[in-house]
Amino acid sequence: MKKSIVITGGAGFIGSHVVRLFVNKYPEYNIINLDKLTYAGNLSNLKDVENKPNYKFVKLDICDFDAFYELMQKEKVTGIIHLAAESHVDRSIKDPFTFARTNVLGTLSLLQAAKLYWESLPEKYEGKRFYHISTDEVYGALEMTRPEGVEPPFSTTASSSEHHLAYGEEFFYETTKYNPHSPYSASKAGSDHFVRAFHDTYGMPTIVTNCSNNYGPYQFPEKLIPLFINNIRNKKPLPVYGKGENVRDWLFVEDHARAIDLIFHKGKIAETYNIGGFNEWKNIDLIKVVIKTTDKLLGRAENEDMNLITYVTDRLGHDARYAIDSTKLQKELGWEPSLQFEEGIEKTIRWYLDNQEWLDNITSGEYEKYYESMYKNR
Ligand code: NAD
Ligand code: DAU
Repeated sequence: MKKSIVITGGAGFIGSHVVRLFVNKYPEYNIINLDKLTYAGNLSNLKDVENKPNYKFVKLDICDFDAFYELMQKEKVTGIIHLAAESHVDRSIKDPFTFARTNVLGTLSLLQAAKLYWESLPEKYEGKRFYHISTDEVYGALEMTRPEGVEPPFSTTASSSEHHLAYGEEFFYETTKYNPHSPYSASKAGSDHFVRAFHDTYGMPTIVTNCSNNYGPYQFPEKLIPLFINNIRNKKPLPVYGKGENVRDWLFVEDHARAIDLIFHKGKIAETYNIGGFNEWKNIDLIKVVIKTTDKLLGRAENEDMNLITYVTDRLGHDARYAIDSTKLQKELGWEPSLQFEEGIEKTIRWYLDNQEWLDNITSGEYEKYYESMYKNR
């Protein structure tokens, strides 16, 4: 019998890359993309796989316990890769309740439905897996303690042995204590705790991974990189929060998807794995690379759009620095990032410029209206 795997949030940014990878790589699985299609969900992210025989889309809210339990039974689900979430920090500052509902209660609802269904089977949890995708933001923020004058390894997606000249001496490890600051990271931390509690209490075979900032095609243009590419092409201001000094650790989204595939199949039950590229950037330095590369690809004069940089009021509670140590994943499962950062960012910018219709549909609101009318009677 074919394995049935549910991927939640498959119409979003990272989820769509995971769905694409699994549908293409595993014709022997039934891949079920479960998504509510919030503003962040977009089925046109998956046009290239939507007609494959091993792919199915189900529009469903992860908080709908009954519907999900029914789906588990009907599809005889053996594995869940859970990415559905409210994911944008700025939105969480404005509307924390939506984040608590989806990220905490939604995850709990999936766990409870999976528990009831799997425990009802003769083989129970054997061959089953609940894999929860989380974020490095649950660990809080790191200090910037790099000695003055020492430059970080900007131009490389560094290997684990090279990463010590980053923006600080500390990293987030799998053992780092949770210390979330934003409503988003607090809600993700809550969901992570529930997942681990279901392993510790009921013996559910769970895995949690915590990843750093992703970049790449199909990211909703409210997040830094696609927002800025879109604004540069439209000659709009680029709102840099605070002084642009905050540090993020960037990973190409397809490398995250490959890590998810590896961990889903080879990761140890009840373990946590950190995923990151040892690739720290100060926002302002990253933004300058994005401007330079976008101008080059648009055929504009070098640095023509640097004057679009506009310093604005900082994000409330803005975390100073994230930096993931992914040595465990590299050593135990042999994963490593495939792309140098410069290559990845150029590939990403080229994609957005080649797919301006995708950007325009999302930003004009047409996409939302279209999907609402398409799905209102289902
Ligand atoms: P996204 O916002 O692009 O996509 C989220 C998807 O979840 C959308 O398709 C949306 O429709 C769906 N969704 C939201 N609420 C839902 C609900 N109640 N029921 C069903 N579906 C719902 O997010 P993303 O950036 O792709 O992130 C995916 C996951 O990875 C999240 O759990 C996020 O916390 C985590 N993560 C993201 C990053 C990053 O840099 N983007 C890094 C580390 C971890
Ligand atoms: O670290 C992983 C997290 O990365 C994920 O868990 C989140 O889902 C994802 O959204 C991302 O969170 P960030 O808050 O780091 O990403 P964002 O793209 O919103 O912002 C990146 C940095 O850029 C951050 O320091 C804030 C800053 N920023 C962002 C925006 C949107 C600006 O300066 N201006 C902006 O307009």
